[in-house]
Amino acid sequence: MAADCIVGAQWGDEGKGKVIDYFARAADYVVRWAGGGNAGHTIILPDGRKFVLHLLPAGVFHEGVVNVLGAGVVLDPWLVLEELRALEEVGLQVPPERLRISLRAHLVLPWHKALDQARERVAEKDAIGTTGKGIGPCYEDKAARRGLRLAELVSGKSLAPILEPLAREKNLLLRELYGADPIDPAQVEASLGEVRERLLPFVDDGGALLRKALGEGRKILFEGAQGILLDLDHGTYPYVTSSSASSGGVFSGTGIPFSALDRVIGVAKAYTTRVGEGPFPSELQGPPGERLRKAGGEFGATTGRPRRCGWLDCAALRYALSLAGAEEMVLTKLDVLSGQGPLKILAAYEGLDRFPASAGEVGGLRPRYEEMEGWDEPLAGVRSFRDLPGPARDYVARVEELTGVRISMVSVGPGREEVFPR
Ligand code: IMP
Repeated sequence: MAADCIVGAQWGDEGKGKVIDYFARAADYVVRWAGGGNAGHTIILPDGRKFVLHLLPAGVFHEGVVNVLGAGVVLDPWLVLEELRALEEVGLQVPPERLRISLRAHLVLPWHKALDQARERVAEKDAIGTTGKGIGPCYEDKAARRGLRLAELVSGKSLAPILEPLAREKNLLLRELYGADPIDPAQVEASLGEVRERLLPFVDDGGALLRKALGEGRKILFEGAQGILLDLDHGTYPYVTSSSASSGGVFSGTGIPFSALDRVIGVAKAYTTRVGEGPFPSELQGPPGERLRKAGGEFGATTGRPRRCGWLDCAALRYALSLAGAEEMVLTKLDVLSGQGPLKILAAYEGLDRFPASAGEVGGLRPRYEEMEGWDEPLAGVRSFRDLPGPARDYVARVEELTGVRISMVSVGPGREEVFPR
C-alpha cells in the first residue's frame, strides 16, 4: 500500500496547496477527505498564473492524476461546477475520469450558507469568524441524519421529502430568529435539477474506488484542508471548523482502512497565522504583527480577511504533529522572516506539558519564548539548505528540536521550484 497524507499543522493557511501540488506529481490519486468550499489552496503555475482552489483537489493541475472528493467532504454543487469552469477558462480541462465525487458526500444548500452568515452576524463578539460557506450548518444536518447527499440527488427521485422538512425548519430560524429572508424549497430543487445533469458524470463510489486503487498498488495522496488545530474534536473548540481536519479524518472521510496510510507529513509555516476568532498564544499585536502580515501577504484566500500573525508556536505545533502522527514536516514561508529583526519562538507554555482542551485555558497560557538571531538576506533565490544564511539554518534546527519532528523540506517562496530538501 502506498498512501501519504499531507495535513496543515497549525490553524490552516500553512501553504499546503503548494506542498500538495509538489507531491501530486508522483501521485495517481489526490483525495480530499473533509471540509468544503471553506478551504483556499493557492497554487502558482509555472507561467506565473495564480490559481485559488476551494473545493477541487490540487491534483487537477497534473495530467494523469485522478482527483477524489471523499464522503467526508461537504460539497457545494454550484461551486464545484464554477471551479471546473474557471479552470477551463485558463485552459485546463478536468474530464470526469479525472474527478470522482463520492455518492456519500453531503450537499451544502442555500439554507446552510444563509444560516452560517446570519448566525455570525448576530453573534457579534461571540462569533467564530467562519468563512460563511455553510460548512457548520451542513455538517449539523449530516450529524442529525436529515442532510441531502449526492446519492439522493443523482437518484432522480423527487427531493421534496428531504428539502421540505429542511425548509420548514430553516426558514423558521431564518425568519424568526435572524430576520433573514426565507428560501423557497421549490427553487432549490429546480436549481439542483439543473446541476444534476452536469454532476452525473463525476459521481462515484469514492471508497470502493480508493480501496481498489490501493489493492492495485496505486499511489494515493490525501490532501488536508484547514489545519489540525481547527479539528472539530482536537482543535481549539469552539473556534474550529466542523470536520475532522486532522489525519484521523482520512479513514472515515474516504473509506480506506487505517493500515493503508504509510506516512503523514505536517505542513507548518515558519511563523503562525490564524484567520477568524479564537485563542492564539503567540499572536503579535500592533506594528510587529502588521510587519509579518505585510511581508507574508497574509490575507485569507477564501474571504480576503487579514490574517492574525504571530511567532512560531512550537508547543502548539508539537501537539498538532503528535496528534496527526506526523513524523516529518515541511516548513514553509521561511523567506518571510528575512529582515524581521531578532526572532522569537514560543518554546513551551509555562507550567503546562499538554495542550489545553478549552479555548479559555488556551487564552490564559503563559508562553515561554526563546530569542533567536534573525537574518536580513532575502531567501527568494536560495535552492538548497546549505545556501541558507546560518541563522536561518539554526532556526530550522531549533524548530526540529522543540517539536521533535524532522523537517524534510523547506519552502522559501510561492513558486513550484522554491522548495528544497532539508
Ligand atoms: P468554517 O470552516 O467556515 O466553519 O470556519 C470555522 C473556522 O475555521 C474559522 O476560524 C475559519 O476562519 C477557519 N477556517 C476554515 N477553513 C479555513 C482554511 O482553509 N484556512 C484557515 N482557516 C480556515
